Amino acid sequence: MSACHDFAFGSMGKILLRHRVRSFAAIVTEEHMAKRRSRVNQSTSPQTGSRNEVRVLLVDDEPSVLEGLRRSVFKEFVADLAASPEEGLAKLRKDGPYPVVVSDMRMPGMDGAEFLATVRTLSPDSIRVMLTGHSDIEAAVRAVNEGQIFRFLTKPVTQKTLLATLRACVAQYHAARLEKDQLKITINALEELDLGTLTALARAIDAKSAWTAGHSERVTNLALKLGHAMGLSAESLEIMHRGGLLHDIGKIGTPPAVLDKVGRLEPEEMQIMRDHVKIGVRILEPVPCFREALPMVAQHHEWFDGSGYPAGLAGENISLHARILAVADCYDAIVSDRPYRKGLPARQALEILRQKSGKQFDPMVIEVFERLAAAGQLA
Ligand SMILES: [Fe+2]
Repeated sequence: MSACHDFAFGSMGKILLRHRVRSFAAIVTEEHMAKRRSRVNQSTSPQTGSRNEVRVLLVDDEPSVLEGLRRSVFKEFVADLAASPEEGLAKLRKDGPYPVVVSDMRMPGMDGAEFLATVRTLSPDSIRVMLTGHSDIEAAVRAVNEGQIFRFLTKPVTQKTLLATLRACVAQYHAARLEKDQLKITINALEELDLGTLTALARAIDAKSAWTAGHSERVTNLALKLGHAMGLSAESLEIMHRGGLLHDIGKIGTPPAVLDKVGRLEPEEMQIMRDHVKIGVRILEPVPCFREALPMVAQHHEWFDGSGYPAGLAGENISLHARILAVADCYDAIVSDRPYRKGLPARQALEILRQKSGKQFDPMVIEVFERLAAAGQLA
């Protein structure tokens, strides 16, 4: 969340990217919350009744007790009554969710503990209350401990106690809902913000040279297709998305004379070009949300046989994300025009990748790449 701070490095000329995600995120989050609050206020059903009263589900097999409970709460709450656990579950399925469910402990068939445990499964947000006789205290305590029941009440319960309990339940219900909503909205806002910001950054990196325009986005899309075909999880693909977009961020520090040179690079220039990996790691290392994607930046020029750079890692010591990215990166470079040559056709690029399988690239990734190419899914 505190992910993005200022990036700064200076050896290749002062470049400072001020990236104030936190404050922007706070504004976006606040806007989302305001909209959400207004939506919540407008919608009274099914949590509330027509007079803005909260609906509660009361379950007891004794009709007189049930009616007594209803009379105790009717001024503040809209009570739905169920004379058995089965009827209670049917109402919950049909008319739920209820902010509060109150159940008797001793009932024929399913007891109150079992009933409230089922309520918890069907409607996890509902706050559950157990009604017990004195002899049921032990069972009630167990139910509280095992079933996350919010309160238990002993019979006979006074109107004052019942109302105070229901008010506390409703407050708990709204607090939990708000916390859940807030968390969801914050995560969504940051996710949207991050990908938009990262894409903008990727374009800024690629715009440094006319020859690399769109490279990072194309490579990312291709790497994601490969990752998806290899069955990676959504979380893993999300990491690849971030790492793919900024894998070449270190090229911010590569002089245009080297980046756009027509013809062979001198050994010294080659070293400067290779330094983009280390510069990229230096830029992104302090960014917490990049911790898991960092190996893609650090290792995308490592070779499967150990002869790559900067660390000479081999095989599975190179992260899977980086092994996938390396294939996508190389393919895009081969098919794209460069100052010194035209881009090659896809068929020829595929042949070059095949020849480098087991040397530069992980054979498993190449296999998937060929499969996607054969299915026409690379474009
Ligand atoms: Fe690179």
